[in-house]
Amino acid sequence: MGRSIGGNQMGKKLGDARKPLRVGRTYPERTAAFGVSLGFWATGGLGIVLGFWRLAASAHLVLHRHLGNPRVLGAVHLFTLAGFSMLMMGALYQLVPVLLNCPPVRTRSALGQWLLYVIGLTGMIGGLSDDQGTWIALGGLGVVGGIGWFLANLGRLILRRRTWNITAWFFSCALGYLALTLMLGGLLVMRLEVHWPSFSHVLALHLVVALGGWFGLLMMGLSYRLWAMFGRRHQEPQRWKATLGLANVGIIAMGIGYAGSSHLLVWLGWVCQAAAVLTYVVDLRAAGWNDRRTMADPALRTQILATLFLAVFEAFGTEALRTHQPSFWVLAILAYGLGWLGLSFIAFIHKILPFLVWLHRYAHSGGSSKRPRLDDIWDPKTVYLPALASAIGLTTMMVGWSARGQGAWMVGIGLQGFAWIALAMGGLRAVRGPHRTRPEGT
Ligand code: HEM
Repeated sequence: MGRSIGGNQMGKKLGDARKPLRVGRTYPERTAAFGVSLGFWATGGLGIVLGFWRLAASAHLVLHRHLGNPRVLGAVHLFTLAGFSMLMMGALYQLVPVLLNCPPVRTRSALGQWLLYVIGLTGMIGGLSDDQGTWIALGGLGVVGGIGWFLANLGRLILRRRTWNITAWFFSCALGYLALTLMLGGLLVMRLEVHWPSFSHVLALHLVVALGGWFGLLMMGLSYRLWAMFGRRHQEPQRWKATLGLANVGIIAMGIGYAGSSHLLVWLGWVCQAAAVLTYVVDLRAAGWNDRRTMADPALRTQILATLFLAVFEAFGTEALRTHQPSFWVLAILAYGLGWLGLSFIAFIHKILPFLVWLHRYAHSGGSSKRPRLDDIWDPKTVYLPALASAIGLTTMMVGWSARGQGAWMVGIGLQGFAWIALAMGGLRAVRGPHRTRPEGT
């Protein structure tokens, strides 16, 4: 999947021709139906754009710190459930069979899961926006059912695997944390509606497990995989066991610390997760950060920008723990969610989508025909516009939040919305074509 791949070099570049990567070789013939990932990604992108619209509509509530307000909760879950979780589901349906050499999930089952999840989300988020208890409860049930179905689909894939690798460790842990997030989310919906159970730290637990476990481990696994493939050094991660172990200990210690009101354990967990981030960054650096040719790749450059926001997350999170001011947690979560996760997705989709288009449209078109390269399907330099708009937008939003300035908050949201719409338009063009084709070997 390198920048210069064309024609039947593709399969070789994907695994066979190189020394096999411990991070896992790929089995591109195991790919899921194209419509599955596209459907999830299109809905996920829409969820994020709608999230920005709802966040703009709730600006006065957010800036006056009414964060538990149902309208704000609705906007937050447009990002977390309708947006990023949906994007990740589309990526996992595609990646897990290709990485674990097992048959993909049946299209009917994946689309049925998508439909139930979308119906549930519409009910739950619509109910939150209008403060309608019945819709929140019914929609919440649909969300629980939709995510449960997704976990069952992925669980079946993992059971039928023919191989195992580093990425699979990260993905399976992330799926375990998604199951926990779901249980805690279900409890939170119940608490919102019937005021039971009144377990005071359930929200903190929900955040640790959802952000650190589900999103965090998934994105680390994905970036280990993609850096090993695209970094020109093809460097295997050396510290992945430390990253995985420390991240898990961090999440568990913080979880138990919050549940048992032990500040010491929460701090211990925080230090462990910071150490996990450090070993992860050291591995990425070894994969090519200081290699000039690797760093000419626009998507990989963008991922470094994403990782800078991870450092911002660490700084604000530490400040939040030190000062007990929730306001710093909001800055930390913004940097983590829209910065690290968002920018990483913007970067990686520029790698994954052209490959999928190539695989589904050109891989079987005969050896002698002209075929496009990946760069002809989606020009890698187009990543800069959404990446910069998103990074500047996020920074402006953070300034707006800190200064309670509605102007900055709205400008930041506008830039972020623009970034995601630009990304969607670029993705649509890459899927639709037409693509410049070149004879084999050029
Ligand atoms: C998948 C990842 C998820 C993430 C990252 C996430 C994130 C969050 C965040 C940041 C909040 C606090 C929002 C605020 O105070 O304004 C929150 C609260 C909440 N979440 Fe989630 N969430 C996720 C999944 C879920 C699921 C699956 C459900 C339900 C099925 C759910 C239900 C709730 C409820 C009901 C609250 C409000 C709790 C309260 O204030 O009493 N969440 N979540």
